[in-house]
Amino acid sequence: MDSILVTGGQPLIGSINIAGAKNACLALMPLTLLTEEKLILTNAPRLSDINTFKQLLTSLGSEVDLANNGQEIQLSSQKIQTVRADYDIVRKMRASNLVLGPLLAREGQAIVSLPGGCAIGARPMDIHIETLEMLGAKIILKDGYLHASAPKGLKGCKIKLRFASVGATENLIMAASLAKGTTIISNAACEPEVGDLIDCLVKMGANISGRTTSTIIIEGVDKLYGTTHPVISDRIELGTYMLAPVIAGGKLEISGGNIQLLSAFVEKLTQIGVSIKKSNDRIIVEGPQERVKAIDIKTGVFPGFPTDLQAQMMALLCTANGTSLLHETIFENRFMHAPELIRMGAQIEVSGGLAKVTGVSKLKAAPVMATDLRASISMILAALAAEGQTIVNRVYHLDRGYENVEEKLSNCGALIERISS
Ligand code: UD1
Repeated sequence: MDSILVTGGQPLIGSINIAGAKNACLALMPLTLLTEEKLILTNAPRLSDINTFKQLLTSLGSEVDLANNGQEIQLSSQKIQTVRADYDIVRKMRASNLVLGPLLAREGQAIVSLPGGCAIGARPMDIHIETLEMLGAKIILKDGYLHASAPKGLKGCKIKLRFASVGATENLIMAASLAKGTTIISNAACEPEVGDLIDCLVKMGANISGRTTSTIIIEGVDKLYGTTHPVISDRIELGTYMLAPVIAGGKLEISGGNIQLLSAFVEKLTQIGVSIKKSNDRIIVEGPQERVKAIDIKTGVFPGFPTDLQAQMMALLCTANGTSLLHETIFENRFMHAPELIRMGAQIEVSGGLAKVTGVSKLKAAPVMATDLRASISMILAALAAEGQTIVNRVYHLDRGYENVEEKLSNCGALIERISS
């Protein structure tokens, strides 16, 4: 398994370009299952999660080709050969569950492996199941697989999500687009990636209103068509690279990202003393001269502070001046990075969904383990400022969600290299 070696202490100076959003692209790819025509996604990120989804769709009978150096995904699903999404693929990536709604809508049936738990929590599928059942699906669990069928087709209705789950909202929107009649989803997830899914579906001929609000109205249509759609930029990658010069020192010019999608995060950075400037389409972040101030943060659904930036923010607050409280409200076990940061000299006490971080003046290098995707980048951020050489092990998590991370950071002066094994 590859590891990454980081020698800390080098300020970052240079430019970084933000890729297309992983989470948007993973929700857009299953749209191919809703049409016989060709779907083309541009501005796609080059990540192992995208290859895993390609593998999943291919196993169902879709043709998936990567063009333009992987930045364009051409998808075609003239015929679905099987409705079974196998455990061997689904277990690698929870987002595989996003084929459930489209397969049900197009084929009237789906057999999708339950993804199982992961490092950050149990992550059940109950909201996906109960809301698709409200549309008329019958779903049973057998041998670890969800067996879903809709013998009479799916029929629109009013559905209130008991929690604004991103994945459940996406599955429901895709299923309802080809259902009979009107579906009104309230307490829907408002994440920008859901908005991108709606934009693409509307181009494909779907009738959907309420984009970016918590009430989404879908009038089912008989048929959807092919289209070309650019994937929105990755707000989590943007937030991650905005933190890099704050942690390591220096100044980064970041292009291709949309700071408006990160208002809660930007507000917190400003409050702790970080200077963020905009010049044309570039975001310029300069590392502060002094240690940043401590601050309390609570993760929440959009537009709240993103849980996907909590680990990276913790890496910064490890060297803040004072004590910060981090409250994780989305996942029950998303502090796996804390023990690793403690190995680097951080002072963190975790109790349930709360982490108390008392800033130290400097972190020190240590061998650490990447436990999940966002934890792995938080280790790298911490290592950029730590004294000495840090080895981050198990970096396959990193390749799932960050495009060319070593190249992007080393182009800005970081001493970072991959050690292949
Ligand atoms: C998506 C993102 C992920 C992000 C998360 C929250 C993708 C591919 N992944 O994940 O990066 O961290 O949103 O912003 O887009 N839950 C249930 N029952 C369900 C569904 C969810 O209890 O049926 C719980 C989960 O266990 C979790 C919380 O709801 O604790 C949030 O999950 P959800 O919003 O569904 O996240 P994902 O779509 O899995």
